[in-house]
Amino acid sequence: MFRRDVSDVLNTSEMRARARRLPKAIFDVIDGGASDEITLRANQSAFQRIWFRPRALADVSTRDLSTTVFGERISMPLMLGPCGFARMARSEAELAIARAAGHAGTVFAVSGSASYPLETIAAAASGPLWYQPPLSSDGKVSEALLGRVEDAGYRVLCVLIDTAVNPKRERDYRNHLSIPLEMSPRLLLTGLTNPMWTKDFLLGRVGHRGAAPRLGGARTAYWNFARTVRNMRPITFKDVAWLRDHWSGKLVVKGVTRGDECSRMLDAGVDGLIVSNHGGRNLDCIRPTIEILPEVVSAVAGRAEVFIDGGIRRGTDVVKALALGASACLIGRPYMFGLAAGGEDGVRRILEIFRNEIDHTMALTGCATVADISPSLVTT
Ligand SMILES: Cc1cc2nc3c(=O)[nH]c(=O)nc-3n(C[C@H](O)[C@H](O)[C@H](O)COP(=O)(O)O)c2cc1C
Repeated sequence: MFRRDVSDVLNTSEMRARARRLPKAIFDVIDGGASDEITLRANQSAFQRIWFRPRALADVSTRDLSTTVFGERISMPLMLGPCGFARMARSEAELAIARAAGHAGTVFAVSGSASYPLETIAAAASGPLWYQPPLSSDGKVSEALLGRVEDAGYRVLCVLIDTAVNPKRERDYRNHLSIPLEMSPRLLLTGLTNPMWTKDFLLGRVGHRGAAPRLGGARTAYWNFARTVRNMRPITFKDVAWLRDHWSGKLVVKGVTRGDECSRMLDAGVDGLIVSNHGGRNLDCIRPTIEILPEVVSAVAGRAEVFIDGGIRRGTDVVKALALGASACLIGRPYMFGLAAGGEDGVRRILEIFRNEIDHTMALTGCATVADISPSLVTT
């Protein structure tokens, strides 16, 4: 496996620049969003409209970034969200991500379209894992999958509720890229811009074969993602109720975009909600998540944990989201860029950058602990 030093990368946008070593079509799959990418941009720019009101004279000589998620302590209020297709960035894919998350002491939420079997990922991990189950239309198949998830030690089920149909990602159309990704002559040609990537993609660990969950008896793998999606149905409240009946661990829904639906979700037995617009990758023109967060926090009123993802690129963004009521944040693209640029080291570096920036922000805003991050810390 090729290694590249990423220890000098200073921030997430520099890591994104390093990831441009990927063939353009692959970089675009990770970087791009839906349609005009309005939400993709707005997710980030909305954070710039929130300002700090630092507390003066607080004793911040020592800081504790740790927090708890569903009663489990994690080392900082930042987690790695589910990203499918990770093998596109680097063949170590979820194994590298799981190792880096474990090293950082935080959660990795594994996508249902992961490149390795969920048990293999669990074996590589040393930190807490969540799992995003692709739901089969055959209840028996889904039930068997949940059994595997539980046996492998995943603690939280994270159900995606925002992907009823395949999104319109125009960069992928322009690049003639389809999922499942196959080494077409066109991709091979783009791959010439990065022979290391091509070699890794073609010859890298083949443990991804027979990956992920089995649906309808078929062994789904990275390039069988399309089949996984076909087997998935739009998720409804009925599915959430079914999951609640069949999963005894914590249940989180990912893709909450309005407050007035939260009560019904909580009544269905949901323990946590992720305010997410899929990083602007599905429906364009959805509001930026940081603007949705307050209405969800207010609707939930402490009855469940509320998380957020989308456009989080700095430690300041994490602290702003916590001040507005999130329990913790998740990231997608930043760690995928880290994986592309430096493999496990790249993901570790991204987590280290966030840790340092969160610590720095807490010190400068007068917060010694995560509990000190209160609504009065920010203004819009
Ligand atoms: C390459 C890629 C693949 C993704 N795959 C999934 C997925 O399989 N399941 C899911 O719930 N979200 C998926 N997401 C969305 C992320 O979980 C997350 O919602 C989003 O990336 C957050 O925004 P950010 O990239 O600005 O941090 C994916 C995102 C990217 C960039």
